[in-house]
Amino acid sequence: MTTYELLLAPSANRVYADQAPRLVAAEAAVLGGWAVRPHQLASLSCLGFEAERLDGAAIERIGRLSAGLALFEAVPDPAPDAGDDAVLLRPIPGPPPGPVDEDLVTIPKYAGKTNEQFTRLLLNVTLSQVRASGPVTVLDPMCGRGTTLTTAWRLGLDAAGVELEVSQVEAMAAFLKTYLRRKRIKHRAELNPVRREGRSLGKRLDVEAEFGDQLRRLSVFSGDTRQSAALWGRRRFQAVVVDAPYGVVHGSALEPGRGGRRQRSAAELLDEATPVWARQLAPGGALGLSWNSLGLPRRDLVDLLRQSGLGPCQGGPWEEFGHRVDSSIYRDIVVAVKPWESQ
Ligand SMILES: C[S@@+](CC[C@H](N)C(=O)[O-])C[C@H]1O[C@@H](n2cnc3c(N)ncnc32)[C@H](O)[C@@H]1O
Repeated sequence: MTTYELLLAPSANRVYADQAPRLVAAEAAVLGGWAVRPHQLASLSCLGFEAERLDGAAIERIGRLSAGLALFEAVPDPAPDAGDDAVLLRPIPGPPPGPVDEDLVTIPKYAGKTNEQFTRLLLNVTLSQVRASGPVTVLDPMCGRGTTLTTAWRLGLDAAGVELEVSQVEAMAAFLKTYLRRKRIKHRAELNPVRREGRSLGKRLDVEAEFGDQLRRLSVFSGDTRQSAALWGRRRFQAVVVDAPYGVVHGSALEPGRGGRRQRSAAELLDEATPVWARQLAPGGALGLSWNSLGLPRRDLVDLLRQSGLGPCQGGPWEEFGHRVDSSIYRDIVVAVKPWESQ
């Protein structure tokens, strides 16, 4: 057995940084079955674990962990005065970086942006459960300005989204156009109005970009997530990944059955949206959802997912992703899989 230490990346967000070691430990258990211990080494946050000598594939998987910065192997300290247990840490080269730079995800800063490391974690644990064959496209049906979508690009995947606020889609379009132009990446980006039967339904953004020999695609509709299946038609996705709103949410239209009110709780929205998202999954696909469990208890959401025909992942590390964001938000993650035999 060899002892390894994974040095964790510092997080820009203090609240998240405090919780990251515990969350990445649960992520490591889901992704590789590694039993890791979060601890401090010379005041640096690390995850220590023992394993048979890691091969290239395992090193690559560890390199994909959301908050991993550098991997080290403990080797005996050869100094004559070192004790029997003294070790030195030898760095292990990580996988080469992909063609899409990290700054695609980190440059945009705005209120309501999902923490970048957390987004990576949510994608990682969801993708780990995808059994659908063929290329994976990730749908974020409440995509904001697209942190999930650009993180999916970095993972080598195509991305699709729906976002209620047309201004968010416009801001995403403006950023992507500027970014791709400045980086001299060959691309095509179009933001067009969507009209059906003479009615304006919002906007649609379509982007294609060539990162070396990889072509990445991204498409986003402005609109209500509960209309996501209508917007995307018969298209199915191998992964649906969403960081749901944490508090009161605003509807896109007055709703007659609700006494004309525009607002509903995040729990009501999840109740209505979950069956829609489940329908959009390909058989063998996985849904990964982060939500505020103070507004909707985990067991209720798990029931909702089951009623929508999905199999929620339960027990062990799956129930160790909950963490406090502030006094009114306790964010948690649930991942659920669509069975092969379903349509
Ligand atoms: C927690 S934020 C997600 C932020 C996103 N991950 C990002 O980093 O930009 C939730 C998003 O859901 C959107 N939203 C709220 N209600 C919606 C609805 N009914 N349909 C679609 N999007 C909605 C909000 O506008 C917000 O952008």
